[in-house]
Amino acid sequence: MSENNDVLAGIGNTPLIRLKYMPEKGSADVWVKWEGANPTGSMKDRMALNIIEGAEKRGELKPGGRVVEYTGGSTGSSLSMVCAAKGYGAYMVSSDAFSEEKIRTMRAFGAEVEIVPGATGKITRELIDTMRSRAEELATETNSFYADQFNNQDHKNAYYKMGEEILEQSDGVCDAFVMMVGTGGCFSGVAEVLKGHCADVKCFAGEPDAHRNISGGAIGGHRIEGIGIGFFRRSCALIWRIRSFPSRTTMPTRRPVSLRARRVSWVESPRERTSSQPFN
Ligand SMILES: Cc1ncc(COP(=O)(O)O)c(C=O)c1O
Repeated sequence: MSENNDVLAGIGNTPLIRLKYMPEKGSADVWVKWEGANPTGSMKDRMALNIIEGAEKRGELKPGGRVVEYTGGSTGSSLSMVCAAKGYGAYMVSSDAFSEEKIRTMRAFGAEVEIVPGATGKITRELIDTMRSRAEELATETNSFYADQFNNQDHKNAYYKMGEEILEQSDGVCDAFVMMVGTGGCFSGVAEVLKGHCADVKCFAGEPDAHRNISGGAIGGHRIEGIGIGFFRRSCALIWRIRSFPSRTTMPTRRPVSLRARRVSWVESPRERTSSQPFN
């Protein structure tokens, strides 16, 4: 029987899928790194595993310990899954401004989830600050390890492997990389590896147009989960261009975005799970 019989062995080595139907004629070849193939359906499984194994190696997380984090739910689902697999407790601070599915997913993996009410129903800097304060408070309790995805170096390092996979799967031919930015961990980790291979790779960072934290525009509430958090702690040196995208609250009609998002699933097949909730 294979030694790799642990759910954690299913993290990473995801397919790189070429979009055959959606790109317009004459446009560049577009490839999608299908992170939906990770066990919880999110790239966050990579960072959860690296953060927890880093803490184990440094003796910061011991048997019987629990992991504390504030999260919109994708990171929380991944941390909860890794904790369940390794026998640690998980205590996640989240909010009802994020989707119910993610909160249910964390609980299904055995996490305790504390809900901070989102006063406006939108994701705002104030809400994130309240969630962070609560997580920091809980992390001071005995046997608690604070995952601290925004500052933990093991977070960004987890995405070096994704960059290496992209290079291997594209035979080293990659002219541009596009990534929506939340903590900036994925963008920074992958961009660092791609730029190390070829300095000319153009790296595009995406953010909500209602919340232009990196490009320096309006800072408002929005409904695109996982990105537009209100602060960006990584270096902007790797960014070639910043693009902003409408969230459903700012769209005059939600139809074009919803149709395009769904076409990726329907026409090209890859399906996201916990990491992306479809637009209704
Ligand atoms: C679908 C999706 N894209 C992008 C991001 C942003 O990733 P990062 O926090 O590494 O910047 C997230 C974060 O949750 C996400 O769920």
